Amino acid sequence: MSTSTSIRSSVAMMAPYTKGHRFAIVSGIILGIIAVFGQAAALNVFGKFIDDVIVPADFSAFPHVAILYAVISVAMIASGCVSQVALASGGEGVVRSLRSELFRRIMSMPASFFDRNEPGDLLTRIDSDVDEVEVFAVSGIDTAANAVFQVVVFTGMLVWLDPELTLVALVIVPVVLIATKLLGRRMAAVEAEARRRASNLMGVAEQSVNGEADARAFGWVGALTRRFDEEGRHAQAAAVKETRVGQVLEAVGILAVVVAALAVIGFGVYQLSSRTITIGTLTIFLGFLMELYEPITDLGSLGASGAAAAVSAGRINEIFTAENTTPEPAAPGPAPATPTDLRFDAVTFSYPGRARVLDAVSFAVRPGEVVALVGDSGAGKSTIARLAHRDYDPSGGRVLLGGRDLRTLCSSTVTGNVAVVNQFPALLDTTIIENVRAARPRAGRDEVDSAIRAVGLDDVAAAFPEGLETQVGPHGRGLSGGQRERVAIARALLCRAPVLILDEPTNGLDQASVTDFTAMIAALPGDRAILLITHDQAVARCADRLLVLSHGRVAAQPTPTPLAPRRAMTPARLPRRALAPVASQAGNSSTPVSPPDRWL
Ligand SMILES: Nc1ncnc2c1ncn2[C@@H]1O[C@H](COP(=O)(O)OP(=O)(O)OP(=O)(O)O)[C@@H](O)[C@H]1O
Ligand SMILES: [Mg+2]
Repeated sequence: MSTSTSIRSSVAMMAPYTKGHRFAIVSGIILGIIAVFGQAAALNVFGKFIDDVIVPADFSAFPHVAILYAVISVAMIASGCVSQVALASGGEGVVRSLRSELFRRIMSMPASFFDRNEPGDLLTRIDSDVDEVEVFAVSGIDTAANAVFQVVVFTGMLVWLDPELTLVALVIVPVVLIATKLLGRRMAAVEAEARRRASNLMGVAEQSVNGEADARAFGWVGALTRRFDEEGRHAQAAAVKETRVGQVLEAVGILAVVVAALAVIGFGVYQLSSRTITIGTLTIFLGFLMELYEPITDLGSLGASGAAAAVSAGRINEIFTAENTTPEPAAPGPAPATPTDLRFDAVTFSYPGRARVLDAVSFAVRPGEVVALVGDSGAGKSTIARLAHRDYDPSGGRVLLGGRDLRTLCSSTVTGNVAVVNQFPALLDTTIIENVRAARPRAGRDEVDSAIRAVGLDDVAAAFPEGLETQVGPHGRGLSGGQRERVAIARALLCRAPVLILDEPTNGLDQASVTDFTAMIAALPGDRAILLITHDQAVARCADRLLVLSHGRVAAQPTPTPLAPRRAMTPARLPRRALAPVASQAGNSSTPVSPPDRWL
């Protein structure tokens, strides 16, 4: 990609995010340009020092030249400093805006996106790729504007001081331009490799840190460390290569100035001998030539940072343009009236590039009904939960909520009406109660307490010194598997969705807790439609109906005879918390609610 194309792609990406920061950026650039003029003026005054004060050894001219020099220098330094602060504030603002938008975009993607993209790679895009684009597109624009102005102003000064000497000095420019263009191309390839390697390294780190328990248990630590080290070597080599090409690019700029300075000194001495130039003029001519070194190398390395930014802009764009496989409907239909049912109508589905998982699956879960879904591991039970939550769209058939195809509802309607407690629920790194409240932050304390009591979390929390205010730790690691499951179910209950899907809810629960759980399900307010995915026969028996998923098809089975212990689960025997109704009935929590008839 050429420098101009990379400039265009990065600037185009950044442009919308400069809103609110444009004043700071533009004033930073203008002040930077003022500083360039100050630099040129200061150098000219310095020439006066040589010709009017030093060469004639005349002190009388010193005070006013000195004052002029000091005033110009202070103005130049002040505008340079304020320019840098303004640009930093604008640039950081742009970074924050782009980063937040990218984060929002990632978090709004459906689950299928996360099935395809590696977390470590996504983190690299949010972090270093955004920085890279900013460094070029905001700070880089300032550097470029400044450099161009410096080149124009200083070259103008050279021509004004001595046109012949300028011709001698600039003869090297075409060589520099060709060299930087060729090296810029190489830089783009090297940059892309460096980004890819850095991202791989983050990927290995992320997977290893997340799976550290298994890594230790199965002795993978050594292998993972070696893999991390190996990726680290590749990343190191790519970074060194990047620096090497960058340095060559910079060296071309330095060499150009050195060659030009030597040519100028040679020709300048000849002019001095023929008295067509003064020492002062030759000195400031050389001064301007040396000042050209920085902007020329800046412009040269702009190609390099442009190449890096173009690679990063491309990686960020991949996220912004990633296909949303479950797009929002153009004109979303109204939310279904509650209570509502969930229906699969001849649903066929396969994951991309995989064999068919569901084959014309049809079933319904009606309000007030608990339906158990069982089947072999890998049969597609969790896939049904994902389709009900519109993580994916079916390849054939329809998933209906209250008779409305999920594809016609906006995502907030779907998530607000279908609560899924995943097989591996994720907890936030905060307190137990905040994790429950996360489902509905505006819920009243009585509703939160009610949900907590319904799953026996109050008893769990009572064992901790800080009760419900106990921190659950990263990924909920401060709680047992069963305790995490309870938090996740309480959270789902609080969100009041009329359809509740519980995927292996008794995972990690002991037998007594499983018994409590089935009682809790029985005590839920009657109008929820509940789909219970389970391998546990005792749990399946608490359902009104049983669906068996096998070979991609669902078959209804007669409801199994309730187990003896369930018959014994009368209100008198059930723990009171298990019988507490959920949501807004906390005031009556001391009044046991009889399990529905199906239990007796
Ligand atoms: N994200 C995915 N991409 C590709 N294939 C997947 C994905 N998730 C699941 N599968 C495949 O789809 C099939 C059904 O998986 P699913 O998780 O629905 O099974 P399950 O019935 O819930 O199993 P289990 O009882 O073990 O939880 C499996 O063959 C699985 O390998
Ligand atoms: Mg599953």
